[in-house]
Amino acid sequence: MEEQLQAIRAEALAEIDSSADEGAVEAARIKYLGRTGSISLASEGMRSVAKEDKARVGKLLNEVRESVTAALAARREALQQTKDAAQFADLDLTLPGTGPALGALHPITELQDQAIAIFRRMGFALADGPDIEDEWHCFDALNTPADHPARNEQDTFFLPDGRLLRTHTSTVQIRTMTTQPPPVRIIAPGAAYRRDEIDATHLAQFNQMEGLYVDERVTVADLRGTIEFFFRELLGANAKCRFRPHFFPFTEPSFEIDIKAPALGEKWLELAGCGMVDPAVFDAVNARRGDNAYDPDRYTGFAFGFGLDRLAMIMSGTPDIRYFTENDLRFLRQFER
Ligand code: PHE
Repeated sequence: MEEQLQAIRAEALAEIDSSADEGAVEAARIKYLGRTGSISLASEGMRSVAKEDKARVGKLLNEVRESVTAALAARREALQQTKDAAQFADLDLTLPGTGPALGALHPITELQDQAIAIFRRMGFALADGPDIEDEWHCFDALNTPADHPARNEQDTFFLPDGRLLRTHTSTVQIRTMTTQPPPVRIIAPGAAYRRDEIDATHLAQFNQMEGLYVDERVTVADLRGTIEFFFRELLGANAKCRFRPHFFPFTEPSFEIDIKAPALGEKWLELAGCGMVDPAVFDAVNARRGDNAYDPDRYTGFAFGFGLDRLAMIMSGTPDIRYFTENDLRFLRQFER
């Protein structure tokens, strides 16, 4: 019996090792470990083994079964590896893959990011406010009287409940001052809305960037220096600024800012409005706050606002503002890098 088991083991291991494929391995399993396989038959033969030999023979039988089972698994594994290796033989893992398309930033987003970075270097923090506003933040607090044309139904989108889509980002000046004391130095980029006739240079929704600086002894010289520095950083050292007297209800004195720069072509372009915060604005803010934090005898400030769309159009060579919002891939793809 023991010799027989040794012989079965030798034969089985040899046969398994030389099995050429899965089918041969399976045939060997059936031949040795199947219900009528030789190892199964041998274990039935245990019954006729003499009592004193049972333990020894039984142990050998187990060893044989285990080594044959292990050999079957090892052979299956080896065959699978050969198969995998053959399958991947032509695969060049050093070939560069197909990179995902990164897309690009929209020209307005790109300009806005640049502008934010420049103002941040001058210590301006980002501020935000809602697109849907009430009349107080958009007009009353900004010293804009009830009969001002901007408050007309023809010029502004009013909601049925009396609120409106903000006509400028100057609302964020008010939101900032009613919630934090001076000094403040903020910029507020965002959308503004007016009932404009839509054409190549006008949309009903456009993008502005507002700035506000309030502290003791802030002067027109600070305003001018800040604006000039900004446009030179954005457009190059030979950008020129021109301040023309103007009127805004919420600043006094007020100016319109024209810019001329090689990057923008030959002409002076009217790009921004600005001025020194009107004391009436501080009064409105103080009344809402219920204190005198923005004491007009102690604090002065400047504010400015400019549109991003026209600048982005010129800087990106876009002839029609409507391209910015039409989502036409032929337009957008040209900005891919
Ligand atoms: N809010 C003004 C506009 O939309 C721009 C502006 C901002 C003017 C701040 C002066 C000060 O036209």
